[in-house]
Amino acid sequence: MRILVLGSGAREHAIVDALLADPAGHEVLASPGNAGIAQVCECVDIGDIADDEAVADYVMGSTIDLVVIGPEAPLIAGVADAIRERGIPVFGPGRAAAALEGSKAFAKAVMAEAGVPTGRALRAATLAEAEEALDELGGPYVVKADGLAAGKGVLVTEDRAAALAHATAYLERGSVLVEEHLTGREVSLFFLSDGHSVLPLSPAQDYKRLLDGDQGPNTGGMGAYSPLPWLSDAFGGEEAFVRTVLETVALPVVRRLEQEDTPFIGLLYCGLIVEGADIRVIEFNARFGDPETQVVLPRLATPLGRLLFAAASGELEGMPWPEFRDEAAVGVVLASEGYPDAPITGRPVYGFGDALGVPGVRISHAATATREGSDDLVTTGGRVLTVVALAEDFREARSRVYQAVDALDLEGGQYRTDIAAEAAS
Ligand code: AMP
Ligand code: GLY
Repeated sequence: MRILVLGSGAREHAIVDALLADPAGHEVLASPGNAGIAQVCECVDIGDIADDEAVADYVMGSTIDLVVIGPEAPLIAGVADAIRERGIPVFGPGRAAAALEGSKAFAKAVMAEAGVPTGRALRAATLAEAEEALDELGGPYVVKADGLAAGKGVLVTEDRAAALAHATAYLERGSVLVEEHLTGREVSLFFLSDGHSVLPLSPAQDYKRLLDGDQGPNTGGMGAYSPLPWLSDAFGGEEAFVRTVLETVALPVVRRLEQEDTPFIGLLYCGLIVEGADIRVIEFNARFGDPETQVVLPRLATPLGRLLFAAASGELEGMPWPEFRDEAAVGVVLASEGYPDAPITGRPVYGFGDALGVPGVRISHAATATREGSDDLVTTGGRVLTVVALAEDFREARSRVYQAVDALDLEGGQYRTDIAAEAAS
């Protein structure tokens, strides 16, 4: 197949790598891609990837068999609809279904209709309503912007004044949700959906805070690991957990959207909180998660291209669950100095040869570019890349991943040192 992957992050790099690893031997193109993706496939400039007509025109003129949309912005802009209308298979939901990610209020409404377990939430459009909601649900307070907020829309705090200030900031741009505070362990579980049937991938854990010990500000994600050994203790095996989430969360949501004639075709990211045997949804995303994808896809044994094409073509029914290698994968994000508030960019990164020389290590690039007139890579954003190591167990995977991270040289580079520490102990 000739497959076009839209996006430019570490997630898209991991998707491209997995597609290129298929025995079927696909031709993979990326747009816009980044310096790391350009090392493994052709990157094409098709302009703004959130411009639905421009993307659809390019796809029509380029004999593409499958389009895979990485980030949320093009999905919410309706790029998948424009491509699908032209009869080309596309892995990614249309605008209406992508609202599961684009509007937290919509997601809560779908969950209520589908009977999916989640925390209580109250919508507030004014300061008075926000105050009332905070007092009704009590602390710790959880306040979320309703729309997309680039990872900055959520505040969890004991401080009522801070919660109210956060609400005030986002009320200027729309409504906010005040949510019941949920406790437990967070799990990200991805499902491939063809609009009717779903197939699960393997669970992962994301580390959202900047600093070790879950301190510091929220980020786009500083690391991840997969699988989650502790799930087996709680649920008698990963499969039992995954089946429960499939039956109580993913399938009811997908069937609900199918009934509404707004089918969800693509990746349903279930952000869950698990306490004992109780599973509740924190959020949905309408695309692969980052950095979880970087640790989930390298463990996938079933060819990815076939799975994504089957989902895009309405052919998942009756297919066996994707298979995963029994290896531990640990991913550590290297971020720029100043991330997340004011990342310093344009700095060179050295040491790729040594890092990639560590057994079982791969690197998914996010914010890298080549410096004109040299082979050096320079940073272009906050989260620069994800180093991922696979090994037989977490202890070895952690040792490898940190050996590789230490081999990289980025002035002011930041990373967490405790990714998967618990899984390795
Ligand atoms: P979200 O963008 O909705 O994933 O929220 C970002 C992070 O905030 C989550 O990963 C959780 O750590 C935390 N969070 C969000 N909602 C809640 C909640 N209702 N209770 C506790 N923590 C939450
Ligand atoms: N890992 C969080 C996200 O992709 O939104």
